[in-house]
Amino acid sequence: MLLELEGVTAAYGRVQVLDGVSLAVPEGGAVGVLGANGAGKTTTLRAITGVVRAGGTIRFDGRSILGMRPDQVAALGIAHVPEGRGTLGDLDVRENLRVGAYLRKDRARIREDMDYCLELFPQLRDRIRSNASALSGGEQQMLAVARAFMAKPRLLLLDEASLGLAPGTAKTVYGAIRRLREESGISMLVVEQNANLAFSLVEEAVVLETGRSVLSGPTEELRTMDDIRRAYLGG
Ligand SMILES: Nc1ncnc2c1ncn2[C@@H]1O[C@H](COP(=O)(O)OP(=O)(O)OP(=O)(O)O)[C@@H](O)[C@H]1O
Ligand SMILES: [Mg+2]
Repeated sequence: MLLELEGVTAAYGRVQVLDGVSLAVPEGGAVGVLGANGAGKTTTLRAITGVVRAGGTIRFDGRSILGMRPDQVAALGIAHVPEGRGTLGDLDVRENLRVGAYLRKDRARIREDMDYCLELFPQLRDRIRSNASALSGGEQQMLAVARAFMAKPRLLLLDEASLGLAPGTAKTVYGAIRRLREESGISMLVVEQNANLAFSLVEEAVVLETGRSVLSGPTEELRTMDDIRRAYLGG
């Protein structure tokens, strides 16, 4: 397993919000995280990246990353596209992509990867000189994903990449992420409210309820479960 969480706990101050989250992402795999508002999806990603203090077991590539600082986790090859985008508003598109690659030294490959991003998201090419803050919501989301890709991570953590986007735009963004996955082999942990979108990208998912993983399984299995359909598939 590339990423393993077992019985993960986390708190904001004295308020315990994670109380036993377990999940695993195989090398090259993509796993979804479903759950209602406040279930602890974002906090789970923050526990992995070291932004909130966590307990339990968090292993990346066989080694414990519990207690590491966010920059140390990033340096291991874990990139995070946070909820609410994750672009630097005062920098233009190209600068945002460069910042994404700041830990890399392979200049020629950085240039290639930048071209790849602009091919994957042609809308960004058209806005290359625009500040991120002047982009549409969909374009900002594309830039956030592209920026995370520029770090050449082994694992991409995506938090609600469809949030606030029109359905057509959300589909476009997920289509590009799927292509990125197929062409790069990057493993992904995908937090998403819209289970249909998540299921277009992942082969397994885990369901969180009040800070605990209560169910997990292959997408095809979850899709057919009545409770899941009602709660996350709109029927
Ligand atoms: N910075 C914070 N300080 C205190 N409590 C927080 C903080 N962030 C989140 N919480 C609380 O922790 C719980 C889990 O929040 P979290 O953001 O992880 O949920 P989520 O599943 O991502 O929800 P959503 O779908 O709305 O994004 C919630 O009860 C929330 O109110
Ligand atoms: Mg959230």
